Amino acid sequence: MCGIVGVTGRTDTVEILVSGLEKLEYRGYDSAGIYVNNSEKQDHLVKTRGKIADLKRKITSQIKGTTGIGHTRWATNGVPSVENAHPQFSTDNRFYLVHNGVIENYEELKAQYLNNVKFVSQTDTEVVVQLVDYFVVHENMNTKQAFKKTLSLLKGSSYAFLLMDRDQPDTLYVAKNKSPLLIGLGKNFNVVCSDALAMLHVTKNFLELHDGEMVVVTPQTVEITDQAGKKVQREAFHVDLDPKETDRGAYPYYMLKEIDEQPAVLHRIQKAYLENTDKPAISTELLTAMKHADRLYIVGAGTSYHAGLVGKQLFEKLTQIPTEVVVASEFAYADPMLSQRPFFIFLTQSGETADSRQVLVRVNNEWHAPSLTITNVENSTLYREATYQLLLNAGPEIAVASTKAYTAQIAVEAVVAKALGEVKEIEFAQKFDVRRELSLAANGIQSIVDEKDKLKKIAHQDLAKTRNAFYIGRGVDYFVALEAALKLKEISYIQAEGFASGELKHGTIALIEDHTPVIALITQAKTAGHTRSNIQEVKSRGAQVLTIVSEALAKKEDRIVIPTISELLMPLMSVVPAQLLAYYASLERGYDVDQPRNLAKSVTVE
Ligand code: F6R
Repeated sequence: MCGIVGVTGRTDTVEILVSGLEKLEYRGYDSAGIYVNNSEKQDHLVKTRGKIADLKRKITSQIKGTTGIGHTRWATNGVPSVENAHPQFSTDNRFYLVHNGVIENYEELKAQYLNNVKFVSQTDTEVVVQLVDYFVVHENMNTKQAFKKTLSLLKGSSYAFLLMDRDQPDTLYVAKNKSPLLIGLGKNFNVVCSDALAMLHVTKNFLELHDGEMVVVTPQTVEITDQAGKKVQREAFHVDLDPKETDRGAYPYYMLKEIDEQPAVLHRIQKAYLENTDKPAISTELLTAMKHADRLYIVGAGTSYHAGLVGKQLFEKLTQIPTEVVVASEFAYADPMLSQRPFFIFLTQSGETADSRQVLVRVNNEWHAPSLTITNVENSTLYREATYQLLLNAGPEIAVASTKAYTAQIAVEAVVAKALGEVKEIEFAQKFDVRRELSLAANGIQSIVDEKDKLKKIAHQDLAKTRNAFYIGRGVDYFVALEAALKLKEISYIQAEGFASGELKHGTIALIEDHTPVIALITQAKTAGHTRSNIQEVKSRGAQVLTIVSEALAKKEDRIVIPTISELLMPLMSVVPAQLLAYYASLERGYDVDQPRNLAKSVTVE
């Protein structure tokens, strides 16, 4: 949520800020702004409501600087508007601030210190920048002291801040708590960003920041101090990613590119964990810790939670360890009756989701249990703070609607479950050829994406004009129905819900009217007959039924038939037509597929 960037020591600061913001636009896109300054203290502030393209139109050739900060916003406090866009600034136009996060006690602070200040925005961020100014003007502090004092007053808040003082035009004041932030290192310049992707075109060397740290960055220096004011030394890490991987290439939208990449992602996962062997390369320490557990808890949000639901079957079947799947935002404040020896698995594409992170904080500080984060982003917060880490190897996922991360999460869960089942000598796991299944899945997905025109036609005929739609299924088909419905609703704004097909008759069937689209998933032999009966029930009430069925269970009337692999891994296959239906329905309805309204990719506020 919200992307922030900063640069110091470059004559092309404006260009770096803008291209960085374009790369971060997935984090929020309702307003944007930059503030730049040069060594002669000539400064410029440009803000707009709307996207980075709108901001670019406002940046004239006169706007130049050698140090600057930028922001792309996902509104929390205050509607999207020019006044509420960042950078926010102090009344005397001396301090400029961009912020990602939420300041919980901003109203108290405003009442306590800033009664005489005239505010121009409704944001919590403006309170912070006015406070810095207040301490400089009224308590005679220098900028660093005023910033530090302000930070100490922000109770229970999440923030990543970049502050500039007009009178120190080459310095960035930086602070982080619970929101992601990295320092990028260059030769005679330095940068700051919410995500390394934003700055890969200028550096590949980054420093991570920890909660509570404050940093002063100039072109030549990076000075990190912890909460107690002690200097911190930290090694840089290298991000080995080709900036081209973040390009859309010839695709009209990232989402389509990412759907198409899924076979390649499965091959990458095989290469990472199963090269030339059926026995996954997973560390003995991790497997020993998991083997010791009497219950696995899979934690996730949104699509990652849905991938966790599929994972439950994999872990229970292959390892015989009871597995619970929990919604992070609920579990973070629940009073769970944990088992004696719990082991937590965090599924998170970004590694930054605040809800999931809050659960990990409890796991570490309260429950003192071991944990594994499975993520797409190395060195992300959940990656660093878990006991064990595994990477998805899906490559950057930019579209807000997650696709390849979902399939990658299921594939990595299968790999881990297989490895653990082998260690536990579970016969089912010994016989489960995960390597072969992932190859079959990759080929199967390829054949589905190769025939996407068929799905485009169905989206046009059956979905484009509907107000609502239902996905139904049983067992893992139901779990995929939840994910399929989420995809459809988040990018096409069709009211779509996933239901357990047997539950329909207990209430939901009342919603079925003439021509209501109902999409049934049938990939599990045990429940196929029952789901077919449920199809008849909705058909008799006028529903327009569409089926996504595995070849092995298909009948003449089925419209979308997909290749058959192990039933446990059928979600890898059955979700793909649903992703494409959502994509084409959104296009047909004229929406921005990659940046749906009200959403942002990396949800770093609770
Ligand atoms: C939906 C989607 C979200 C994310 C959720 C968790 O398409 O992308 O539901 O899955 O916000 O994000 P991560 O996986 O980054 O923790």
